[in-house]
Amino acid sequence: MAPQNGRELKPVANGKDVEADEEEDLLSTDATETDKNKRKSKVVQRLFSFAAEDKTLVIVGAVCILVSSALDTAIPNYSARALAIVVSDSSASGGNGGLWSPATFSGAINGLLFCTFVGAATAAARVWCTALVEVRLIARVQERLFAAIMKQETAFFDNVSSGELASRLTSDTSVLAVSLTTNFNLILQNGVNLLTSLVVMFSVSWRLTSWFSVASVLFFLLSKKVGSLTRKMQKDIQDATSIANGGATQAIGLLRTVRSLGAEELETQKYAKQVADLRVQQERIKAVWAAYVPAVSILNNGLLALVLVFGHATVRTPHQAAGFAVFFLYCNRIQNAMGGISANWASFLGAIGAGDAVFTLMDREPKTRTSGGVIPAVQPIGALTFQDVTYQFAGRGPVLRGVTINVPPAGRVALVGKSGCGKSTILSLALRLYDPLGGRVLLDGADISTLDPKFIRSVLSAVTQEPPLFALSVKDNIMYNAKADQPASNLQEAVGIAQLDSVIANLPQGLDTLVGERGVRLSGGQKQRVAIARAIYRRPTLLLLDEATSALDSASEAAVQEALETHLQQRAPPGGMLLVAHRLSTVRNAHAIFVLKDGVVADSGTYDELVARPGPFRTLVAQQLASQAEEEAPAT
Ligand SMILES: Nc1ncnc2c1ncn2[C@@H]1O[C@H](COP(=O)(O)OP(=O)(O)OP(=O)(O)O)[C@@H](O)[C@H]1O
Ligand SMILES: [Mg+2]
Repeated sequence: MAPQNGRELKPVANGKDVEADEEEDLLSTDATETDKNKRKSKVVQRLFSFAAEDKTLVIVGAVCILVSSALDTAIPNYSARALAIVVSDSSASGGNGGLWSPATFSGAINGLLFCTFVGAATAAARVWCTALVEVRLIARVQERLFAAIMKQETAFFDNVSSGELASRLTSDTSVLAVSLTTNFNLILQNGVNLLTSLVVMFSVSWRLTSWFSVASVLFFLLSKKVGSLTRKMQKDIQDATSIANGGATQAIGLLRTVRSLGAEELETQKYAKQVADLRVQQERIKAVWAAYVPAVSILNNGLLALVLVFGHATVRTPHQAAGFAVFFLYCNRIQNAMGGISANWASFLGAIGAGDAVFTLMDREPKTRTSGGVIPAVQPIGALTFQDVTYQFAGRGPVLRGVTINVPPAGRVALVGKSGCGKSTILSLALRLYDPLGGRVLLDGADISTLDPKFIRSVLSAVTQEPPLFALSVKDNIMYNAKADQPASNLQEAVGIAQLDSVIANLPQGLDTLVGERGVRLSGGQKQRVAIARAIYRRPTLLLLDEATSALDSASEAAVQEALETHLQQRAPPGGMLLVAHRLSTVRNAHAIFVLKDGVVADSGTYDELVARPGPFRTLVAQQLASQAEEEAPAT
């Protein structure tokens, strides 16, 4: 079987760290430069098409960005002119070529006020539109991504951690939305600022502006170089962070195991070492930034000082002085705009890495169909047949090598065999969690790969080995995703068959007691009983039980087993059962027992037939009796 996932599942950075992963996530394959650029532009296109679903908001927001940035750029022009009038000695005389007339001054102040108020109004509209686009975009991407994750085949989840998928859903999607709204917004704003500032500066002095532009571009390239240098360091920090987080999450999640193995100290030391490595790397990058920030400031101020020297050498008249003041203010603005563009561009490109991972996952076609297919019109009878079925998990040896098993309608069939021989795998194939690699699985005569998975799950209901529960109440666990119109008596019946009454009587809120994450607040046997009640409540035609009563004492196990059998027989039409059990006494009543060994059915028959002849079943029974006798023998 082909590997279930390729590079699309490569962990992607979370949150702000994403930008550092830009090269690695998008560009780590052997793809050519053109391919990489094509992929980047595809992600950008996709992102814009998502945002375009809020077309009106996007257009209004973009217009507001342009207007507010243009008005913002005009403010220094008006304020510099007003300032020049205020500080000029000539202003008192009211003369000097109209520049200093009261009308010019009030015009500058009016312009200043207009730009401030209209600019503020458009800025408010811009912020509002952007925020709306952002939150809607996040919700839309999250919703579609979750739907895409839910429809993936089971084998997909064997190869990817839930933490990784959670990070795609939360941090990657928000990085993506923020990059489009905040980063792109700021790039646009700063771009408008840059262009309008250049226009004003050219109108004052084209020569000085050209000279200043060349110096600024050189400075921009330098900051880009430093940016790409720190990106590599940032990537190392990100890797170290995810290793430390992964270790800590696992240790906390498995706390009971850690504690029972006395490994708290070990885990603490492991985490402390990882955090120390992380600290060293962070100190290194902070040192680079510590040197870079003053260097930028020196370069910026040095450039401004040169502009001042040039101004001192060339400005001769108050008129020129006013023009130079305007020019000087815009120099500063251009520097800020360039800084803003380079910082936001880096984040924007980084977010494309996150976008690539999100969209690849969203577009992934599941290898097994998880919806659609035929829903037979006739009433199901629960006949299940495995015909020459072969199966192996990705990267592992064969588990099943031509298994043929028949479960007749209302039959009670058991699977036995040594641990790891493939019993649970057979049940998974029946539920179509995986598809066989060879042979067929038939339900009521139809190949289950042609049937609607929803139909399969309404006919079959399983209690899996070590069944996890949802962090809901006992009742909600039993009724989870079952048909809504069932009479209340069905719940009581399911509770009775699973012998849950006594358990519930001792719970503080009875059926409404919350069971905790994965059912942690219940004992192993109690969890199994809830799972049995859940399976029965769905009224399946065929019940699949995988070691469903293994945690119960022998007496309770026998009582539950009997209650289940009676219930299934009394139903109309009667229900069947395919059960897996290690405790061989449990399968004594089965109509047929299949013994699995080395991936094939080594023997089959009733309990009495199988123990009557030498073979794998008799060996299993003998081994079990011997170990029981050993356990029960008085210690000497
Ligand atoms: N998701 C999986 N990915 C890879 N290998 C798997 C996976 N699930 C099971 N296996 C392997 O397939 C083989 C059969 O496993 P299976 O769970 O069917 O055994 P089993 O007969 O139910 O054992 P047990 O009695 O211990 O429950 C084992 O070798 C197991 O390691
Ligand atoms: Mg098993």
